[in-house]
Amino acid sequence: MTIKRVMVIGAGQMGAGIAQVAAQAGFEVLLHDANGTALDEGIQRIEKLLTRAVQKTRITDEEKASTLNNLKRAKKLEDARTCDLVIEAIVENMDVKSKLFRELDEITPAHTILATNTSSLPITEIAAVTNRPEQVIGMHFMNPVPVMKLVEVIRGIQTNDETYEKISQMAEELGKTSVEVADFPGFAANRILMPMINEAIYAVYEGVASPEDIDTVMKLGMNHPMGPLQLADFIGLDTCLYIMEVLYDGFADSKYRPCPLLRKYVKAGWHGKKSGRGFYVYS
Ligand code: CAA
Ligand code: NAD
Repeated sequence: MTIKRVMVIGAGQMGAGIAQVAAQAGFEVLLHDANGTALDEGIQRIEKLLTRAVQKTRITDEEKASTLNNLKRAKKLEDARTCDLVIEAIVENMDVKSKLFRELDEITPAHTILATNTSSLPITEIAAVTNRPEQVIGMHFMNPVPVMKLVEVIRGIQTNDETYEKISQMAEELGKTSVEVADFPGFAANRILMPMINEAIYAVYEGVASPEDIDTVMKLGMNHPMGPLQLADFIGLDTCLYIMEVLYDGFADSKYRPCPLLRKYVKAGWHGKKSGRGFYVYS
């Protein structure tokens, strides 16, 4: 079986990006979101990015048209029954993801691979709620998906070689470089990145410096393209907190304790750029 038709679930910043690169690479893509407005907004963002790419002469008008032609809205989750691969990119919460994977296991044919873009949750645990754990895998894209070259590919304890090879090959077809990473909390990317972001938040919390100055330190001092607080806002503070909780629970080590200021911001609904406010205010 070759992968031709793909459903991406979750049309937020990651899902829309994954749908875009898959449609650009020639896959037939169905984009689904439980929230109809989020689905419309996801498609609009893709159209805007493609128009910008045409203006910048990175792609032609024909490539834009064929990408949009490859991309369809899926109003119902049941449309996954026609797909060879499902890539889930919904909220970073084990209960919500488990419920979705149970449903997908019922809906999709036996050959369908179920992939998750989770940032940190155990693939083995997500796979265990299905009757096909050997065909469940982590496919962890980086944000913004159209720009960032890396995909972490994470096998659960039961993921088989065929599934791993198909997903690694697909990542290459999407123009990405894939790295195999073991199923440990936060995998490799977020195990390293998130404690840095959390530490930057502690530095604000303890009055070491302002968010702007901490970001300046890391941009000008370490040549990072974004400071850690700007990056946290960009990722989503809710997502950052979920990931820190997974590291804290998974390793039972106080070095991963989420900063109380991060918890407070998330409780306030300050989820970063997507909600209009985080460490910075967005209009
Ligand atoms: N979607 C698509 N394309 C985007 C984009 C987005 N959200 N944001 C920027 N771009 C594109 C722009 O279109 C631009 O390309 P063109 O000039 O050809 O149009 C290019 O990226 C550069 O953008 P800008 O000039 O506007 O800004 P920049 O030079 O500051 O680059 C950036 C923007 C690429 C996001 C850069 O700031 C960067 O690399 N930031 C760090 C990103 C990062 O660390 N990502 C990983 C996050 S962690 C993660 O993803 C894992 C997890 O589980 C949380
Ligand atoms: P987001 O909040 O931008 O989008 C999530 C989307 O999922 C929303 O549109 C929401 O309506 C939809 N959704 C929620 N529950 C759903 C359900 N049961 N069925 C269908 N749709 C549902 O989030 P995001 O930043 O795109 O993150 C999505 C996933 O990708 C998370 O697991 C996150 O950890 C992971 N991830 C995020 C980043 C990042 O930088 N933000 C990077 C890599 C991976």
